[in-house]
This record gives sequence, structure tokens and C-alpha cells, in this order.
Amino acid sequence: MRRSLIAANWKMHGSAASIQAYLEALIEKTRDAGPEVVICPPFTLLPLAVLIAGGSAVEIGAQNCHWEEKGAFTGEVAAPMLAELGARWVIVGHSERRQYFGETDASAASRAKGAQRAGLSVIFCLGETLEQRDSGQTLAVLERQSAALAGLDPGSLAVAYEPVWAIGTGRNATPAQAQEAHAALRRRASELLGREAAGALRILYGGSVKPENAASLLVEPDVDGALVGGASLDVEGFCAIIHAAPGRRPGA
Ligand code: PGA
Repeated sequence: MRRSLIAANWKMHGSAASIQAYLEALIEKTRDAGPEVVICPPFTLLPLAVLIAGGSAVEIGAQNCHWEEKGAFTGEVAAPMLAELGARWVIVGHSERRQYFGETDASAASRAKGAQRAGLSVIFCLGETLEQRDSGQTLAVLERQSAALAGLDPGSLAVAYEPVWAIGTGRNATPAQAQEAHAALRRRASELLGREAAGALRILYGGSVKPENAASLLVEPDVDGALVGGASLDVEGFCAIIHAAPGRRPGA
């Protein structure tokens, strides 16, 4: 069985003034929820988030990490630093990192390895642009981007399929488009990680997930959860997405 995983990517949003009320409401409203819940706020809010969520089922993650344990890398944060704070997860290879900050398939793979070496679990993001989809390259792009999975420990890994054209645009992939990509990614994971690990791997969908469309996406057999940006900033809406997910689904 695969347990649903619903993760919030706050991006560059959130404040110390508002995080306590948000997390307390989230913890209260999801006490009996089936899915695993992860909140990824900006670095500066991580200590506070870990403190407030401590003792609850809500887990805290970061949005990026460096591949080295330490060193002369001004402005970067190392995975052991995140682990020391009590973060459990880290998002790696997000399309905004690829688009605006020069993240490549190779650097994303290195970051993911660095995170796992430090004991963190990784949400590894990939997805095609609109141009790539329109020219029929979606599956080829996913195959290229997912090559990074080969070097990773499947036991502390989730994959997030996030079509770039659906992120922050209000235009989500249809459930059928998501299912097609997720099934392809699971076949690919089976080649790279083995059949059993691929059957247990959680593949999340991300890109304009909202309370209104969450149930229709999360009902698809290979959509094991969601990585939610904009709609995760509102705690009521995010809780509605969590409650729209089945707790567990059959895995291979
Ligand atoms: P969105 O972002 O939900 O605002 O589209 C998702 C993401 O970038 O992870």
C-alpha cells in the first residue's frame, strides 16, 4: 500500500507572524486524516515550524539544499544543517529552480543525493514545459529528467510530476494527463529502481492543485498525492485538499 502524501510548497511566502496560527489549525484539522502531511516553508521559518509542529504528525521540509556537507558556497544551505534543525524533507529540482536559478538535471541529482546522505527524504520534481508537451516530447523529457532517480534510495524518495505549464497558472493537468505521466514515471522507476521499489514509490502531482480539482486528480491510481503551491497558503483550502485524498492506495 502507498500512503498518500500531501506536501505544501510555500515558495517565498509566509511570515513568523502567521505561521503559528496556520500550523495549529492544520494540526487540529488533520489529526485524523489519512495522508502524510509535509509543510515546506522558506528556510527562515524552518526552526519555528519544527518547534510548532513538534509532537504532531505534520512534518517539515525545506525547498532546496546544497549537495556538499559544508564549504565555501555563499548563500547556500547544506542538508545536514536542515537535518540538525529537525527538517525531515527537502524539495529538489523544482522547475522554478531550473528556470530561474540554473538548476540542471545533474545539479538536482547531486542535491538529492546530498539530502539523502544527511538522512532527509526527497521530493524530486520534474515535468515538461508547454512547448515540450505541444511538440510531443513529454515522455522523452520525463525519461531524461528521471534518470537522476537511479542514484537515489527509494526508501526516502517521492517524485513530483509538475508540468511547468500548470504551475501557478490556474491551469491544471487533466486527471487523464496526470495519470498518463505518472504511469510512465512508475514504469521508468521500475527500470531504474526495481519493480518493488517502483510499486512503493509515491508519485505526487503538482500544478494548480486546488480544493476544487484535488479529488478528481487524487482518485487516479498512480497519483499518490500532491505538491501544492498557491493553494497551500490558505490553511482551510490546504486542509480540504488533504481530506480529498484517500489515505492509502494499493501499490504493487
Ligand atoms: P502551484 O505550484 O500549486 O501554485 O501551481 C505548485 C508547485 O510549484 O509546486
